[in-house]
Amino acid sequence: MSDELLVVKDLTTTFTTNSGPLTAVGGVSFTLGQNETLGIVGESGSGKTVLSRTIMGLQPRRNVTVTGSAIINGFEVVGASEKAKRQIWGTEVAMVFQDPMTSLNPVMRIGQQIDESLRVRLGMDRASAKARSIELLELVGIPSPVERYNSYPGHLSGGMRQRVVIATALACSPKLLMADEPTTGLDVTIQAQILNLLDELKDRLKMSVILVTHDLGVVATRTSRIVVMYAGRIVEIGDTRDVFYHHRMPYTRALLESSPKVSNHSHTRLQTIPGRPPNLMKLADGCSFAPRCAYATDQCHNVRPTLQAADETGHYFACWNPLPSNRGVRAP
Ligand SMILES: Nc1ncnc2c1ncn2[C@@H]1O[C@H](COP(=O)(O)OP(=O)(O)OP(=O)(O)O)[C@@H](O)[C@H]1O
Ligand code: SF4
Ligand SMILES: [Mg+2]
Repeated sequence: MSDELLVVKDLTTTFTTNSGPLTAVGGVSFTLGQNETLGIVGESGSGKTVLSRTIMGLQPRRNVTVTGSAIINGFEVVGASEKAKRQIWGTEVAMVFQDPMTSLNPVMRIGQQIDESLRVRLGMDRASAKARSIELLELVGIPSPVERYNSYPGHLSGGMRQRVVIATALACSPKLLMADEPTTGLDVTIQAQILNLLDELKDRLKMSVILVTHDLGVVATRTSRIVVMYAGRIVEIGDTRDVFYHHRMPYTRALLESSPKVSNHSHTRLQTIPGRPPNLMKLADGCSFAPRCAYATDQCHNVRPTLQAADETGHYFACWNPLPSNRGVRAP
């Protein structure tokens, strides 16, 4: 068995819609090591959520075709039955979604919600489950966990609710935690607290984490590698530092220049990426970014670039006219 916790190969997710097939994720391949944090970034609609849900095997049963492979700790998710997937949900992989209210039952006490997965999945008795739930609430930094055990989600702030969701996700000690925009909608201070908590828990519990976001500032200091997605495909992937300082794909640069926390030039105007993301039902043959790219040539419009190695460090980009390599130039 490989050392990698997650191996994704040529993963493709196509929805059947009334207007025809829509490929939301196309030919995605990457690996994730033990105790590693990987960031997945890209504009809205680039396929980050569909990719995460596909890796978990959480796609709707109808009108969707998944091909390729996603192996979590030796378990092939693609093509697995719901029954088989239930064996790995919670114990091998768990997911924290953007809106904590959709993950929590508003009419059930938070402690009972955590108890439930402990009892159903780990077969704990009532008293042990309660004790473990209180421990988990404490682990995620909920003050007065014994009292909070009996609270309803509506009685907690947004940040505290997200902590409860994280506690629920951690209940069965998953090896991989997928966090899809876990801090969107929370104020900046609380966002940092939740992200710090995920960092801390990753090390304490020896998990791997996939952090999905459209905000490069979020992944800058918290990931070891980054996947940049555009129109459902990986257009650049590499160590975080390489993606930030030695990127070769014009879209990666545009994304960085449009990110307030990253560009850090309070005196200059932020660039917005001109044009709009492509319609996934009408993808042209060439590079999907071509209509918005200042460097586009005829070749870009006609032939899709495949990922090529920038160096030997696992840094790849998909572009016919890459930005010049600035290796050797000292990064800030
Ligand atoms: N069930 C579905 N049926 C048809 N199309 C879908 C379905 N779910 C997602 N899509 C389409 O797949 C594409 C990728 O969506 P996805 O939600 O993965 O984007 P995202 O990168 O997560 O965006 P955001 O940053 O806004 O969360 C979008 O064009 C979306 O409309
Ligand atoms: S392949 Fe061409 S259009 Fe696409 S990003 Fe590179 S230069 Fe721009
Ligand atoms: Mg999303």
